[in-house]
Amino acid sequence: MNLVEEIKKLKKAKNAIILTHCYQNMEIDEVSDFVGDSLYLSRQAAKTNADIIVFAGVFFMAQSAKLLSPNKKVLLPNMNSGCLMADMIDVDNLKQFKAQNPDVPVVCYINSTAEVKAQCDICCTSSNAVDIVRNLNVPKVLFAPDTYLGKWVEHKLKNVEVITFNGFCPTHLRIRIEDIQNARTKYPNALILAHPECHYEVSKLADFVGSTKEIMEFAKKSDKKQFVIATEKGVVERLNRDSKLYNQGKEFILINENIVCPNMKHNTLEDIYNTLLNESNEININPNIAQKARISIDKMLSLTSSVINK
Ligand code: 13P
Ligand code: SF4
Repeated sequence: MNLVEEIKKLKKAKNAIILTHCYQNMEIDEVSDFVGDSLYLSRQAAKTNADIIVFAGVFFMAQSAKLLSPNKKVLLPNMNSGCLMADMIDVDNLKQFKAQNPDVPVVCYINSTAEVKAQCDICCTSSNAVDIVRNLNVPKVLFAPDTYLGKWVEHKLKNVEVITFNGFCPTHLRIRIEDIQNARTKYPNALILAHPECHYEVSKLADFVGSTKEIMEFAKKSDKKQFVIATEKGVVERLNRDSKLYNQGKEFILINENIVCPNMKHNTLEDIYNTLLNESNEININPNIAQKARISIDKMLSLTSSVINK
């Protein structure tokens, strides 16, 4: 059976779309309608007319798609696809964090569950975190769960105190300062592009810091020829594939061969086929929680399109 062809037929028959994060196994791109970062995929989920969304990503991403498209069926191909960072905070931890810092607005990274989002004031992604916090116009915010993205926001804004929850991404934390120093020595003409989930001391040493999609766009537009990429391997694989496709002659080097998110690699073409065929692994969210969680995502999306204009 040709899985790619069969999935395409099923998509058509069921009016389904496939949203794919750029850390996924690259063969999934062949059946995908949109490939990108969390913000881009959330926007696609919000505006699609499809009846079914298959989310090739991790659990919180599929949950966010369901929050934005409550009347559509949202399916996650492999239920083992969790996010280790999102799992570091639950509602009890969050309540404690808030109680220790009363009356401070809470900004919640999209890498979190709907239950956690429901207890926060506004959501953000890696591409708009700095702008979201800036636009709140407050001297102090709580930021959960990613401590390093929060510290990066504080570093960029300077006049806002960002009190961070102690969550982190184990994959991005494998990138060390020495990796950056070694890359500078080995590839003196390369630019180093990093994701803000890296330790902020690592991000500070990079030439550009952005979301996965921003890194890819920056690299594609740049007139430089060599790039060291400080984020998950899937980004490097796609950049090298596209560079060959468009004859750009650019070279993309993964900063350290261990930068692979195991949770992002669970979904396979076979899982997508089975999920779509059987309409299994459906994401459902308690309506009370969904209603509150959606407010924090809607606020982010409306601020992003009206003020931030990303
Ligand atoms: P992006 O929004 O930059 O794609 O990040 C999602 C993520 O989980 C990175 O680890
Ligand atoms: Fe979560 Fe890190 Fe994997 Fe992103 S790379 S999905 S933050 S564990």
